[in-house]
Amino acid sequence: MCRPSHFDVTYSINPWMHPEKPCDGGLAVAQWEQLYELYKSLGHTVEVIDPIPGLPDMVFAANGATVVDGKVLGARFRHAERTAEGPAYLNWFEKQGFQETLWPEYINEGEGDYLVVGRRILAGTGFRTDPRSHAEAQEFFGLPVTSLTLVNPNHYHLDTALAVLSDTEIMYYPEAFSEGSRAVLRAMFPDAVLARHEDAAVFGLNAFSDGYNVLLPQAATGLIARLKNRGFNAIGVELSELLKAGGSVKCCTLELR
Ligand code: ARG
Repeated sequence: MCRPSHFDVTYSINPWMHPEKPCDGGLAVAQWEQLYELYKSLGHTVEVIDPIPGLPDMVFAANGATVVDGKVLGARFRHAERTAEGPAYLNWFEKQGFQETLWPEYINEGEGDYLVVGRRILAGTGFRTDPRSHAEAQEFFGLPVTSLTLVNPNHYHLDTALAVLSDTEIMYYPEAFSEGSRAVLRAMFPDAVLARHEDAAVFGLNAFSDGYNVLLPQAATGLIARLKNRGFNAIGVELSELLKAGGSVKCCTLELR
């Protein structure tokens, strides 16, 4: 995770970002601290990377890399405002002693568009990650990668439209995907939890699950109820300030596998 010490909305690279609207930096840090403490109270180990001045979106650690089996695929950002984050995150991994790292040839925004389900990877494209990156990721990790096309700009990253609940279960918002990708998801995950518009619109799919505890925006009340029915411990989290940049729980969280 990355503390949002320099967080602000100073540019707009997705429809959620309105630099002219006020944003409370102190509240952003306080809300982030709650998420950080919640992970620790649930027994997770949380590493932090130092935030860098001038990189307000660096709080969205999910975008910093993709890590599977200790292998680190670096991130290469679509927008100039975020490009410096890629080397900053990869450098952190190298300093921590991760030995298999790859500086990518193609644009990919880390776990924003790469989600690991068991021993396979779901990969988003359409807004940020270059589809050619999907083959690069498959070759690097040696795991099957399934390409999914996003079509709704409010759900510009895969992790804003789909969340992994366990090694075999996901939840997603069908309307965020192309016709073909919806059919692929139906075939692969016939028992998936399908999110309704109200929950998707409050970023309810931007969730982190450890297989039992599912942390998600507290406004996603429909999803919270349905996850509880399925036996998950759904926990609502308030991250109103980070939402003004188009991010929430999952965006703040990069999993170190
Ligand atoms: N403002 C950031 C951007 O548009 C938000 C990134 C959210 N991160 C995520 N994993 N979806 O790039």
